[in-house]
Amino acid sequence: MSRMLNATQFRAEFPSLADSVHLASCSQAALSSRLAYALQEIGHSLRAEGAPWQTWMEQVGRARERFARLIGAEPGEVAVLSCASEAAFQAAASLDWARRPGIVTNDLEFPSIAHVWLAQRQRGAEVRVAADTGENVAAEAYEQVIDERVNLVSVPLHTYRNGARLPVEDVVRLAHDRGARVFVDAYQATGVVPIDVKRLGCDYLASGSLKYLLGLPGIAFLYVRGGMEQQREPELTGWFGRTQPFAFDPRLLDFPADARRFETGTPPIPSAYAANAGFDLIERVDLDAVHEHVSALVEELAQRLTEDGERVASPAGARGPQVAIIDPDPDKLAARLAERRIWTAPRGDLLRLSFHYYNDRSDVDAAVEAIRDCRRT
Ligand SMILES: Cc1ncc(COP(=O)(O)O)c(C=O)c1O
Repeated sequence: MSRMLNATQFRAEFPSLADSVHLASCSQAALSSRLAYALQEIGHSLRAEGAPWQTWMEQVGRARERFARLIGAEPGEVAVLSCASEAAFQAAASLDWARRPGIVTNDLEFPSIAHVWLAQRQRGAEVRVAADTGENVAAEAYEQVIDERVNLVSVPLHTYRNGARLPVEDVVRLAHDRGARVFVDAYQATGVVPIDVKRLGCDYLASGSLKYLLGLPGIAFLYVRGGMEQQREPELTGWFGRTQPFAFDPRLLDFPADARRFETGTPPIPSAYAANAGFDLIERVDLDAVHEHVSALVEELAQRLTEDGERVASPAGARGPQVAIIDPDPDKLAARLAERRIWTAPRGDLLRLSFHYYNDRSDVDAAVEAIRDCRRT
């Protein structure tokens, strides 16, 4: 195994940071040398092998194994899909709303996931919303809406809006006590927050590669506890959802006894290359050290922005890898920062500034000074 990287060595893997300040990992990670090289590797596979299915399948298989290892799961508990919405759909479609119709969600959920839950109403589901405080959702709010009619409870590990950590362990306990399953959207955590699905105890967990996992859009992973937690068989399927994808029997609809049963058609192969480039780096860091490094930068930025009179919307005591500030026109503020090559991520009424192991205190300085400057002029 290659040597482990400290924060300075990790930053050196991202030459793109020489002329930019990347505070947008909650949206898309910075470009690493590994990723740039991986994109060339796809071209090389085509030149060298013509139709390189075997090589491509190895890339997909490696991405599955590495995601499984990252979250403390078995490879057979992970399906490789194209986006988190598809992962949410596969979880929803595996449940029988006629038995228990309830789905619990909340307004800090990424809309794409919430929309999948809402769309289940045409199949008989009833959607309930756990009330939020504007910044977070308390376990008590879940307690009020989970009862014996609820089949699925959905909770992000960290919300995309302001990075806040939701009380997932409490929600899992409440849901399981009342016989419901739990779907965790970990997109805003994987890569910078250590995760152990067995400790979380959730039934489903979804994430993708473009943000803190340092890859590109187009690939997502669905963890399914035991590989086949389900009340119904998948309806969205395809040849990669078969026991033997290369058997080519149009009359045989069999489902493997693991999470591959949730897969559909041709996997997202270029994005699997990109995901593996990300894992090449993520596997060379100590995630506890990354978490500590990122948390220190977040706290420093939150404090300095507060001192400057900014309204920080990421709640103290539950902050994740980002600091969100309230702004009347965050797109405009982001555009002004982008003029200085400071990449941030505006959403709704918030400007989000997020950190990875490649960020350092010079990035905090740059953000504070630039925002101060933008307020002046
Ligand atoms: C928490 C969270 N979930 C999901 C997504 C993406 O969902 P999808 O892969 O369906 O586009 C994002 C961001 O893009 C996100 O921040």
